[in-house]
Amino acid sequence: MAEVVILENETAAGILAAAAIRDLIDRQPDAVLGLATGSTPLSVYSALAESLRRDPLDVSRVRGFALDEYVGLPEGHPESYRAVITRDVVEPLGLTPANIQVPNGNPATLATAGVAYENAILAAGGIDLQILGIGRSGHVGFNEPGSSFASITRVKTLTEKTRIDNARFFASPDDVPIHCMTQGLGTIRRARHLILLAFGAEKADAIAASVEGPVTSSKPGSVIQLHPHVTVLVDEAAASRL
Ligand code: GLP
Repeated sequence: MAEVVILENETAAGILAAAAIRDLIDRQPDAVLGLATGSTPLSVYSALAESLRRDPLDVSRVRGFALDEYVGLPEGHPESYRAVITRDVVEPLGLTPANIQVPNGNPATLATAGVAYENAILAAGGIDLQILGIGRSGHVGFNEPGSSFASITRVKTLTEKTRIDNARFFASPDDVPIHCMTQGLGTIRRARHLILLAFGAEKADAIAASVEGPVTSSKPGSVIQLHPHVTVLVDEAAASRL
């Protein structure tokens, strides 16, 4: 059963999640973090950066694995998740860039990139704490409805809804890649602790389906019900259908 915490706003949720990450790093300086992109986790990363500024902690050994990446963006594209993770997470937190991995979205190596990424996670000892957002379509990472609960890192096709949602980051909707590389729901299930965040009324259905709905691959977020240690941080609007 997930622990659901309803907070006043994103800032309060970010502070709570950042405190959990900080505690983990304090106990385990080489902790392995699962890093999500999107707007949702930004308050977590900025609260953690602020906390580290006020009260420094050695984060040089922290390791991280991004959830997903677009396929086929040119190297260095500002909206590639490699670039986003560097800008929003690695730099503000002062993490060691070599310790942070992002799935490889290069079309030339897609056939092997998924298994290579899974092996890298295993070699790191698994993910200790996975930060998650959720899409309006209910996707987690880029696991769109229909994704298997046993899936590992692999290539997926984005739904039209997700491409429209993510068009805000690109010059034109046609520029949003059609394919992505994402950790699977099976990968996410193996992380030791999941923190799922969601804010705003447009996430209320996805949160209700994840927390209380039937466990079904047509609602990828419902995978959290199969996990023994989940914290859901939401505002009133995202909690409104619970
Ligand atoms: C993106 C990411 C997801 C994220 C979701 C929600 O497509 N791949 O990891 O959870 O969409 O994004 P946002 O937090 O901006 O609403």
